[in-house]
Amino acid sequence: MSSYNKTRHQQQNPEEFYKTTTARIQKIQSQIANSPRGTRLTDKVCIITGVGSLKGIGRATAIRFAHEGAKHLYLIDFDPTNLPDLKSTIGKLYPDVKVTTLQADAADEAAISGVCDQALREEGRLDVFFANAGFASRNALPDTTAETFMDSMRINALSCFHAVKFASAAMQKRNPSRGKEYSGGSIIMTASTAGIRSGAGTVDYSASKAAVNSIAKTSAYQLQKCDVRVNTICPGLIETNMTGETFDYARQRGTAGKIGQLNPLGRFEIAQAAVFLASDDSSYVNGQNIAVDGGLSASHPVAPGRWV
Ligand SMILES: NC(=O)c1ccc[n+]([C@@H]2O[C@H](COP(=O)([O-])OP(=O)(O)OC[C@H]3O[C@@H](n4cnc5c(N)ncnc54)[C@H](O)[C@@H]3O)[C@@H](O)[C@H]2O)c1
Repeated sequence: MSSYNKTRHQQQNPEEFYKTTTARIQKIQSQIANSPRGTRLTDKVCIITGVGSLKGIGRATAIRFAHEGAKHLYLIDFDPTNLPDLKSTIGKLYPDVKVTTLQADAADEAAISGVCDQALREEGRLDVFFANAGFASRNALPDTTAETFMDSMRINALSCFHAVKFASAAMQKRNPSRGKEYSGGSIIMTASTAGIRSGAGTVDYSASKAAVNSIAKTSAYQLQKCDVRVNTICPGLIETNMTGETFDYARQRGTAGKIGQLNPLGRFEIAQAAVFLASDDSSYVNGQNIAVDGGLSASHPVAPGRWV
């Protein structure tokens, strides 16, 4: 047997791997839930968009930011359904964290400049903006209209442009009386492995996420010397509201194991990456597109047997 095949045979079968991955993530989730309060975001005033979905990256991150001692969280979604639940969940777990929920479109210029102004007015400072709102289109190229293309660009990319433009201006405002003696802050955007290479999304979705990755690099360059950092997180395929159908379909067909290379509940791991980027632990990380994807984007698709 070739060494390539030996390596493959040593791996668990996909169903087993899916089960052990799920168990591993549940363990991580319970460790996170039971870990003592952190201090990595103490005193930080943060804005997060796309927090409305119960299984989403935005909600998981909001709870994590509260756990790490954020001072005030401004939480935005255009769907208001689950905002009261998120506010009360954080209120029960972390009563010292102020939470303001807002129903708004993350791609609306006035809404985003407005929430940055609101943070400055109420807290005198802005430290973190996590531009996470997004949606995934489904059509193959022949069925993708110009309208769908522009929707993807508007919701996924224009929303990030607004975040960078208005948050970076707000983050440069100093306010020693509120503990902010220097300009600075961290802008984090959720891009995707689809923005790095092909095979992970539709043409319009991938183009919009590539734009987000580019916005991080070009704006980090323009914002140098003011200590406002801009980075993206590129998640792999993880189970949230956006991808629920894909996971349900795979479970129905009994092929869930095949998506088990990826991380079925990875939203908590994305949240951990967001905490790192929001905190001063990452003070030397700037202009980067960071894949948090279990290795998905590190490799070309594997065609078993071709390399032996
Ligand atoms: N789940 C994945 O596998 C995956 C992979 C790569 C990237 N992403 C990205 O992660 C981000 C979060 O997605 P998720 O997986 O948590 O999906 P989700 O659908 O569970 O959550 C997305 C949230 O964003 C909100 N939203 C969408 N458009 C908005 C807008 N214009 N203004 C305000 N809110 C808006 C939705 O209402 C929803 O609550 C998205 O940017 C998505 O593209 C997800």
